[in-house]
Amino acid sequence: MLIHSAAQLLTLAGAPQRGHELGRLEIIPDGAVLIEDGTISAIGTSTTLTTRYPNAPRLDASGKVVMPGLVDPHTHLVWAGDRAKEFEMRIAGKTYLEIMAAGGGINATVQATRQADTETLLAQTRARAATLLRNGTTTAEAKTGYGLETAAELRQLQALLSLDREGPLEIIPTFMGAHAVPPEYAGNTAGYVELVCQEMLPAVHRWWTDQSTWRSLPFMDVFCETGAFDLAQSRRILEAAQTLGFPLKIHADEFASLGGAHLAVELGAVSAEHLVKTPPKDIEALAHSNTVAVALPPTPFGLADPNHMPARAFLQAGGLLAIASDLNPGPAWCESMQFVIALACRYLRLTPAQAIAAATINAAAAIQRKDQIGSLEPGKQADLLILNTADYRHLGYRFGGNLVKTVIKRGKIVIDHSE
Ligand code: NIG
Ligand code: FE
Repeated sequence: MLIHSAAQLLTLAGAPQRGHELGRLEIIPDGAVLIEDGTISAIGTSTTLTTRYPNAPRLDASGKVVMPGLVDPHTHLVWAGDRAKEFEMRIAGKTYLEIMAAGGGINATVQATRQADTETLLAQTRARAATLLRNGTTTAEAKTGYGLETAAELRQLQALLSLDREGPLEIIPTFMGAHAVPPEYAGNTAGYVELVCQEMLPAVHRWWTDQSTWRSLPFMDVFCETGAFDLAQSRRILEAAQTLGFPLKIHADEFASLGGAHLAVELGAVSAEHLVKTPPKDIEALAHSNTVAVALPPTPFGLADPNHMPARAFLQAGGLLAIASDLNPGPAWCESMQFVIALACRYLRLTPAQAIAAATINAAAAIQRKDQIGSLEPGKQADLLILNTADYRHLGYRFGGNLVKTVIKRGKIVIDHSE
């Protein structure tokens, strides 16, 4: 298939973009892409490619932006139920950590997820995966962490693998048994940490190796936060995971600054996420490391909190920044990376070009997939979007709608919204 005549073809070609480099879209006006067997085989101007490949079946993108599929590098996609009641409580003045300390929050969803039968869990998760895809996300990272006991965590992981196999949304799994302390261990966080290290991690490792010899271990993530795991406990868990070969992620400095961002740098984590309360010296250390900072603007927005990740300072120091939805049943039931881009422009002060790069090539780097997805270059997976606009800045500028006309995943048209 030859997609041609794109008003703007955003290729995002090249390496992930650090610091002031962020926002290099590498636009080809009147651009074209040749796709063969699910892979991009050529990129160029329409004149060049239509001359070189006169017999390829054509798809006209005139008046449209063509760009890489959006990559969401931080979601909690798999859960059952909802927490609409807590949303009302927060609006009335209760804080997220107060609700969590009272047994609500993550543990309310743990209860609903443990109780749901597998079909229900799959059906509710599948519906969200379909919404992500309609909104232009072609790959999403997804965390467990609403099971918090070995069997329930493995069931969540299994659900993610099944939905990835079903497609078309590609799911990159993360094991997050250290998302919260479950009710059985209330008051005994240390005991739960040992369960994670001595039982869950080895069990997940064993299960994974039996299930899918064909791919690398999932990521391991921990919620380093007041009311969840402190710095020493987070370190214990991440080091145990690292010893088994899991690549690391960390939820750090969302509400309180416990030192999680610094720990991420020290352990060489793939990414550190949230970073709302990260002190300047840790922002600096992170910016000089290879750990990707993932800002999640839907979370403070969802909590009506004016504080956001200090993205401009981080870029000033030369860091590698990505953005993500944090899709979860608590503060951020957000299924649109287009909306994340709009929030990132306003609250992180990114330009549309910077936000787009943070949601494509840099987001791919945050999940160790920069060589497969995130840009349009020969040899990469043919994951791309055709937008109902001729000007890429409409991403960010407009919000609340959906600019996606066509979604192509691995070379196949999987969504086609007529105008
Ligand atoms: O990233 N902070 C921890 N986890 C999620 C919230 C999950 C939930 O509230 O269910 C987050 O914000
Ligand atoms: Fe999260």
